Amino acid sequence: MATVQDPVEVDAEKLEQFVFRAVDEVGATLNAALVVMGDRLGLYRALAGAGGLTPVELARRSNVSERYVREWLNAQAAGGFVEYDPIGGSYTLPPEQSVALTDESSPAFLPGFFQIALGAVIDSPRITEAARSGEGVGWHEHNHDVFDGCERFFRPGYNANLISEWLPALEGVVEKLEFGIKVADIGCGHGSSTILMAQAYPKSTFVGSDYHEGSIETARERAREAGIENVRFDVAPAAGFTGGGYDLVTMFDCLHDMGDPAGAARHVHDALAEDGTWMIVEPNAGDRIEENLNPVGRAYYGFSTLLCTPASLSQEVGLALGAQAGEARIRDVVTSGGFTRFRRAAETPFNLVFEARR
Ligand SMILES: C[S@@+](CC[C@H](N)C(=O)[O-])C[C@H]1O[C@@H](n2cnc3c(N)ncnc32)[C@H](O)[C@@H]1O
Repeated sequence: MATVQDPVEVDAEKLEQFVFRAVDEVGATLNAALVVMGDRLGLYRALAGAGGLTPVELARRSNVSERYVREWLNAQAAGGFVEYDPIGGSYTLPPEQSVALTDESSPAFLPGFFQIALGAVIDSPRITEAARSGEGVGWHEHNHDVFDGCERFFRPGYNANLISEWLPALEGVVEKLEFGIKVADIGCGHGSSTILMAQAYPKSTFVGSDYHEGSIETARERAREAGIENVRFDVAPAAGFTGGGYDLVTMFDCLHDMGDPAGAARHVHDALAEDGTWMIVEPNAGDRIEENLNPVGRAYYGFSTLLCTPASLSQEVGLALGAQAGEARIRDVVTSGGFTRFRRAAETPFNLVFEARR
């Protein structure tokens, strides 16, 4: 029998507040495309350090149509990305925004973050359809902004932390790397982490691998450009990378993307030397959902819905850990692969770094 529900009382003030907050979100959604546009057209770079520029001056410096530049600048000013001077009709990129929007070497560099977000949004109709059936969408099926954005988003963080903080946080690993050991970097994408380690430790040899052939081709190109010889890149799934007796195996932001992370853990266990180390870098997350309901968690749950979860579901087992799995679930996966020691070795606001030993 149907029951009549009491009418729900709506607080008009709260409704208005929510609508205005949502308007800000619409502006933010569009800003993902505008930041990528400003990055691609060189608008931020032309503004950086230039003081106040009018739209005509910026258009001339960047060789972009003035009418587009003027509208873009107003959107940037409304969002606080540039400052507008109504007296002179000029726009300035403050020094902090200059770093965050133009300095690829800074850990604060943002365009890669926006690029991967825009790439994920572009592919979202496919994810919406997959969600109806529960089928997956492979990492390799995405557009290039996802791969390039991922590289540009992660690389500055690795530059800032990997050699100076994360590797030294592992027991005895830096000494071994300096002496010369064999390292496998699994799910390496475009190879930023592999190349960085290979440059820092020339006596060690590095094998980067990823199941995505396109990413490995780019990684090989990056290694050629960097002129390094102690690195090789292979196309291989995590549960089947070649070689054995590795002293160090690394995984950067990819364990949760795998369909069978426990199978990968077993393979790493077998491929490691007796006293070898497995370093796992994962997105920073608490074990409980309520711990992740903050801006970083929001971005990661978004990426997880559109990229990571479908990627895992597209593979065998389809465990779909999600990008906010948290330490307890990662520990379960790692120990199910035969590892007896597991600890959190380091962390940043964006990442957790784990050390696993046989
Ligand atoms: C978020 S990206 C991270 C890439 C790279 N580690 C980095 O830090 O830039 C995740 C990577 O995991 C790879 N991947 C997903 N499933 C995999 C699997 N089963 N075996 C190997 N690589 C896998 C994807 O191809 C992708 O390159």
